[in-house]
Amino acid sequence: MTIFSPSQLNNSITLANRIVMAPLTRCFADNDLVPTQLIAEYYARRAKVGLIVSEATIIDPLGQGYPNTPGIYTKKQIEGWKKVTHAVHEKGGKIFCQLWHCGRVAHSCYTQEEPVSASVTSWHGKVPRTKDLEYEMARELSTKEVKKLIKKYTKAAKNAIKAGFDGIEIHGANGYLIDQFLRQDTNKRTDKFGGSKKGRSRFALEIVKAISRAIGPDRTAIRLSPQAYVHLEYTKDDEKTYKYLLKKLNRLNIAYVHLGAFSDHYTFDYLNNGKASEYIRKYYKGNFITCGGYDVNSAKEAIDENKADLVAIGRPLIANPDYMEKIKNNQDLVEYDMSMLAKLY
Ligand SMILES: Cc1cc2nc3c(=O)[nH]c(=O)nc-3n(C[C@H](O)[C@H](O)[C@H](O)COP(=O)(O)O)c2cc1C
Repeated sequence: MTIFSPSQLNNSITLANRIVMAPLTRCFADNDLVPTQLIAEYYARRAKVGLIVSEATIIDPLGQGYPNTPGIYTKKQIEGWKKVTHAVHEKGGKIFCQLWHCGRVAHSCYTQEEPVSASVTSWHGKVPRTKDLEYEMARELSTKEVKKLIKKYTKAAKNAIKAGFDGIEIHGANGYLIDQFLRQDTNKRTDKFGGSKKGRSRFALEIVKAISRAIGPDRTAIRLSPQAYVHLEYTKDDEKTYKYLLKKLNRLNIAYVHLGAFSDHYTFDYLNNGKASEYIRKYYKGNFITCGGYDVNSAKEAIDENKADLVAIGRPLIANPDYMEKIKNNQDLVEYDMSMLAKLY
């Protein structure tokens, strides 16, 4: 088996190879948060990877925390995404839509309302890409609202299938809404969506189950970052919640679990003194996509040593639209640098 050999995820989906394009927010949707022709061309240029995971895509206007991030809740947005999925499929590629709600990391400068979260908490510091705005105190979602949001995630997943996506990836990583439910730092709830590892995992699991029922478990996936305290403070024993969640996910036969990490080189004392990828691989028995600082050699090694089934590549794919051709032909890659974010190419 090599990174270039096909991967049968399940009965519905076979991928041409084991390289995945990691979700990469680019902030190039139009002002109605509709993906444009330029975005379609950007993804089509990268369609030779086994699977593209789209940039995080908001499921509800209240979930927006960055400018011009695409949505998947209006007809126009669905039509916009059709251009993207069509362009990727024409090139023989496959694409999942990453479903996103920022929770307390959303901001009223985009939503005109106070942010919502598991509990009344706020993140600190300045909101990126704004002029000195501070994060705001979030309002706690009522139990009824939490249930409504599960329906909104499900509707967004159905919209994604309507738009031609091959499946969806629930964004449960990096301190956004689902992670805010998972962590003790941000979830102080006393209803059934909090209070214990079971309660804190319920929001994520109910979203996975509802979406699986709506579009099929083969087309449903989730991204998690048990190691990452991005937009969150560390709380002891969060690891127990993740262990519980991963074990529960084993029973749901979804397409894959994807590690959300910027670097998978580090080990964490709170994750059995190992790497985040090792932690997920240990407890989750289905398809696993690792991510975070991989190059061709470390990706090959991860696949050969069965540390993961697929490897996601982020920044190198921003810098090299022809990444797959280059790695097949042993050509040098262009080094990523942040200035590349200013343009889609
Ligand atoms: C510009 C940029 C945007 C990103 N946007 C997202 C996103 O929308 N959703 C997500 O889950 N991760 C996002 N990430 C994280 C990447 O998916 C990935 O985990 C990270 O870049 C590490 O992989 P790499 O070392 O191959 O780049 C983003 C990272 C970068 C650099």
